[in-house]
Amino acid sequence: MLSEDQINEIIKAIKDVSGYDFSEYSPRSFQRRIDKIIEDYRFDYKSLLKKIEKKEPEFYEKLVADITVNTTELFRNPPVWHSVKYRILPKLMENEKVDIWHAGCSTGQEVYSMIILLNELGMLDRVNIYASDLNTTALAQAEKGKYIYRFNIEYLQNFDEVIRKNPYNFEEYNDVPYSKYFDIDQVKDKILIKDFLRNKAIFKKHDIVKRENIFHKKFDLIMCRNVLIYFNLSLQSKVLNFFYDNLKFPGYLVLGYHESILGNEAIKFHKKHYYYTKKLI
Ligand SMILES: C[S@@+](CC[C@H](N)C(=O)[O-])C[C@H]1O[C@@H](n2cnc3c(N)ncnc32)[C@H](O)[C@@H]1O
Repeated sequence: MLSEDQINEIIKAIKDVSGYDFSEYSPRSFQRRIDKIIEDYRFDYKSLLKKIEKKEPEFYEKLVADITVNTTELFRNPPVWHSVKYRILPKLMENEKVDIWHAGCSTGQEVYSMIILLNELGMLDRVNIYASDLNTTALAQAEKGKYIYRFNIEYLQNFDEVIRKNPYNFEEYNDVPYSKYFDIDQVKDKILIKDFLRNKAIFKKHDIVKRENIFHKKFDLIMCRNVLIYFNLSLQSKVLNFFYDNLKFPGYLVLGYHESILGNEAIKFHKKHYYYTKKLI
């Protein structure tokens, strides 16, 4: 295990060569990722540092991908999607235009879940969907919308929970076939998101730490799930303020199932069910 000083040296070297700033990531999870990288790449501390200092974009982009955690799934945590479906989107339904941003979208399953839901609600044509992530490899996969079937099959159950069933009325069942949204090839172990869904979102590389609004929009809904957990409290607070400033009023913020807003920012948002609304202060 590396010492705190060594970890700080690595953070500094990454920042100097690439501009990525991990200094306010949660130290424990950052340390775990670096330890794993050293083990997987068969580096020691000195050789890792030397390799970073060579300034090879291919290497540091890969390193960033390895430092960040990309776990995601279709309709992850169905109760959160029930909030989106039954509480948030109905409030936005009358708007002429709706702007949604997925910040930290990873390989895109969250974005396609939203697009499918909007299509089911008949809102897709009126919604602009923006999606961003730091990890360029994950973003490239998100744009392709192509996934390994065996890793995603159990997530089709989430689709059933959100799209087919109604948790508030067990007698209602909306028999939407998977083939409406996915081309599934079990032999080739592929699940491909249908074309008409893939063209809908704008995917862009974006570093939340820098807190720049690269889409030059205010948003009705920001989805930033399972990203802030990797940041320390000070960075979480700066990012939450940034989201606050870039939400319209009324505006909705959805964090991860296990995440909540603590500290000073709590007074800027109302907590409802599995989401937050912007308070006017
Ligand atoms: C665990 S995934 C969450 C994906 C999705 N939101 C979900 O909940 O299923 C976390 C994502 O945050 C991204 N991420 C981490 N730090 C980031 C940053 N500074 N800017 C943008 N994205 C970041 C990672 O690359 C990763 O894709």
